[in-house]
Amino acid sequence: MDFPENCLDAVEQLIQQTHQDCAHLLELANKFSDIQEHLSNHVHGESLQTQYENLPPSLHGLVELNYDINNHSYCRLIEPLVYLRHYDETAQSMAISPLNSDGRPFTLSTPRIDEPEDNSHIHLRIPFRSHLWDGLFAMRTQAADMNVLGKDYGLNPETIRGLTQFLTNEPIPTPSDSVYLGQGVRVRYFGHACILLQTSACTVLIDPLISYDIQTDSRFSYTDLPDQIDLILVTHAHKDHILLETLIQLRHKTKKIIVPANNRSSPADPSLKLALNAIGFEQVEEATCLQRLPITEGEVLCLPFFGEHGDLDVDTKLSYRIRFGEINILFFADSRIIDDRVYSDLVPLIGDVEMMFIGLASQGAPMSWLYGPYLTQTINRNDDNNRSLSASDANHAIKCTSIFKPKQAHIYAMGREPWLQFIMAQNDQNQHQENIEVEKYLSWCRHQDIESKLLYMRQQWELIPK
Ligand SMILES: [Fe+2]
Repeated sequence: MDFPENCLDAVEQLIQQTHQDCAHLLELANKFSDIQEHLSNHVHGESLQTQYENLPPSLHGLVELNYDINNHSYCRLIEPLVYLRHYDETAQSMAISPLNSDGRPFTLSTPRIDEPEDNSHIHLRIPFRSHLWDGLFAMRTQAADMNVLGKDYGLNPETIRGLTQFLTNEPIPTPSDSVYLGQGVRVRYFGHACILLQTSACTVLIDPLISYDIQTDSRFSYTDLPDQIDLILVTHAHKDHILLETLIQLRHKTKKIIVPANNRSSPADPSLKLALNAIGFEQVEEATCLQRLPITEGEVLCLPFFGEHGDLDVDTKLSYRIRFGEINILFFADSRIIDDRVYSDLVPLIGDVEMMFIGLASQGAPMSWLYGPYLTQTINRNDDNNRSLSASDANHAIKCTSIFKPKQAHIYAMGREPWLQFIMAQNDQNQHQENIEVEKYLSWCRHQDIESKLLYMRQQWELIPK
């Protein structure tokens, strides 16, 4: 935890409070593990009907007992029913503070608490679905009266005063080129896996993770986005590809969000659509592999995404081909390109590829780093490391690039931008190994006359149709 010692009491209190407030959820999780263990140790082929009598009260009405086709019995959590019984938005809050540097505590281990004598942020216990947030974040680019907004949502005068300190009466200089009016496709790299595609008729944002503005370097930020985003595409449910901090700030200007559909039988694969709907995103649709989604003057084709999930049965992952006119762009995110046969089969569907983006974060964390809390049995250290959350290495990426033969193939999603430190745990040894893979891939691309870069901070291209 990234706290000074004088926060010890506050941390202890938070732990106690969490155990108290979430006792029913902790009970649900424990009983769910118990029933899984019971089924796998004691139930082998007989009817499951009598097993419902053994369910603890906390699971009654929330689960279905099933066999898979290998005759292994398991307990399936019916997620919408869990929301119906247990969803509690009083646990939601947002801390707002000015940021002048990228030094932020690591988010997986450091909760946001109100530190003693810390007046640097305002902590608002208001549900995420409240349109107050939309009004507030729209004020990044559209002037409004904080007093009126605050009163509309029942904020007290002190909170309104607190929020007003983050606002200005001066016009904010906004870039004149946030809207693209050219004849082709403008591609903007916002850092990590976040890429904005713009034509004069359509705007698509992939894996939104937008940095705040700071004056020390040049980076794309919220003011570089147009007033309307027609479509947000999410590749998978890892925190560096779907970040609530960014999404909630874009909700007021986003028409539609596409997320991959989940595997409803796997507790390790919760539904993004349900989660986003619950917190006030009404414009969410699910997509599955090879689904085609029309966009203005183009189409999104959903593609398979292999690996990077510790060999767990997770479906919430898609790569995308986005086509505008005759221009095709591929986004593979962290997909680990293991079996290249599938990509050969896709070539006729995809056509000539102008540009391709692929992640080479090949030194992923052990599987339990993200998925440990879902496991009902401990996994040994060796298996945990071998089932790491790794994207493609250079050889995987070379295989894929050889198949699609793009004119440009860029490496992205490497977690290196300074504003990612609060969610990424990079270390020098991993980065050293990844640099070797990056060099190998870039060198191969050079020999093939494929334009290729390791993307960092910001980048922009304009693709003009022939
Ligand atoms: Fe990932």
